[in-house]
Amino acid sequence: RLLIIDFGSQVTQLIARRLRELNVYCEIHPYQKVNDAFLDDFAPKAVILSGGPDSVTRPGSPRPPQSVYTRGVPILGICYGQQVMMQDLGGRVEGGKITGGGGTAEFGRAYVMPAGQLPLLDGWFETGREQVWMSHGDHVAQLAPGFEVYGTSPNAPFAVTADASRHFYAVQFHPEVHHTPKGAKLYENFVRLAGFSGDWTMAAYREEAIRAIREQVGEAKVICGLSGGVDSSVAAVLIHEAIGDQLTCVFVDHGLLREDEAEQVVTMFRDTYNIPLIHAEESERFLTALDGVSDPETKRKTIGRLFIDVFQHYADQIEGAAFLAQGTLYPDVIESVSFSGGPSVTIKSHHNVGGLPEKMGLKLVEPLRELFKDEVRALGRELGLPDSFIGRHPFPGPGLAIRCPGEITREKLDILRKADAVFIDQIRRHGLYDEIWQAFVAILPVRTVGVMGDGRTYDFACALRAVTSVDGMTADYYPFTHEFLGETATRIINEVTGINRVTYDITSKPPGTIEWE
Ligand code: XMP
Repeated sequence: RLLIIDFGSQVTQLIARRLRELNVYCEIHPYQKVNDAFLDDFAPKAVILSGGPDSVTRPGSPRPPQSVYTRGVPILGICYGQQVMMQDLGGRVEGGKITGGGGTAEFGRAYVMPAGQLPLLDGWFETGREQVWMSHGDHVAQLAPGFEVYGTSPNAPFAVTADASRHFYAVQFHPEVHHTPKGAKLYENFVRLAGFSGDWTMAAYREEAIRAIREQVGEAKVICGLSGGVDSSVAAVLIHEAIGDQLTCVFVDHGLLREDEAEQVVTMFRDTYNIPLIHAEESERFLTALDGVSDPETKRKTIGRLFIDVFQHYADQIEGAAFLAQGTLYPDVIESVSFSGGPSVTIKSHHNVGGLPEKMGLKLVEPLRELFKDEVRALGRELGLPDSFIGRHPFPGPGLAIRCPGEITREKLDILRKADAVFIDQIRRHGLYDEIWQAFVAILPVRTVGVMGDGRTYDFACALRAVTSVDGMTADYYPFTHEFLGETATRIINEVTGINRVTYDITSKPPGTIEWE
């Protein structure tokens, strides 16, 4: 296995992701934890020293134990990791100047030119130079003995350096980020040089995660809030596999779910997986609190507040619970680190149970914290969750409330659920479900006049929404054919009493948002 020593870079997790893509097992450990005993115990086959915000020129700045260099294993140093290697092995690092030539601070895109043959760079420089992503203040001023330069950029004369005889490699840029297009190839070369066969799989991740959950939780009880979404479901199934009935799930049913959704969740967890589940059927409470509310933010806040009260009420019944499980993913972790306290404007108050653990005196179990969405899906498949479930479109915490602009009534919710089910059925029948990021119906707060048979109708209008997106941050409307739209409109009007007009929302995000509220 490979050890990544983390010096605090924002993108350390991306290194792990690149390695998982190469089917290499790795673990990230903070530098504070890595001492001689740790290294002996871990016995890494190779080590990566991550980037980090500190400066090696500062006394007391983070270092790995010196024994890392005498174990005879390949080492790759990245950015701060490069500077650590140079300093530790007898070279010299200087603080960066922001302007001027030769070894200055550098942030953003840069181009590396070859300066020698190195197996680490196999497949590089096919077009003469390679784009890389730099983000550093300091720079190497003098190489450590035994090191040579194999790649340079105008501002980083020591962009790629190595002591090939010892398999010590050190690069100034970040090969793990998207903006270093050949970065994955560099990692592939490194793990090949280190002798990894690339046979590690999600099955192994599952085993490792189960071991870690057992170690963290011990004999204690764990509560997991289940939303019916992919993340919390995968987390729950994984934790249940690790600790069995020490886990209880609480599923808060706020009456704002889609057709048959509550039954599906309850059946799947209780009957298929035998996971202890409290079905908190509290729709009356939520709908009563939402009575007469039409302002979007008030809706969101009302639901959010009530959700926490209800969750806490049910969780309090689970005696001796010490942990709260959450399906937090890695992007949530990065966002909360890099954007917390930032000057951004609240567009929508998101459903958030962030304050809950402290309020309830619970510790967190977050077994998906290192994974990206597609990896969570792969883990879900590994755990045997059905494909149809794993590929589901995202669904917002406040549910149908924010797809019902204006006042929410039971009548409107019933109509909306039926129309939504027809739309999704259409999309599935036409084999479009997996091409679409998210699709749903919004019921509009207006009635319009129509004619059906020989009679006049005066019913609700609805809007279809379907978008493509990579991360939900930006989105494009899906270009359905006119035939598809026509057929869908006809089906909704024929099959759903209460709707007599169908429109298609062709707004992208920005300027629109995906949801209507
Ligand atoms: P918007 O409407 O902001 O939505 O473009 C972007 C993505 O986030 C989902 N969404 C939410 N998810 N709680 C959630 O868990 C929320 O309060 C919430 N609001 C929006 C939305 O469905 C889309 O996928």
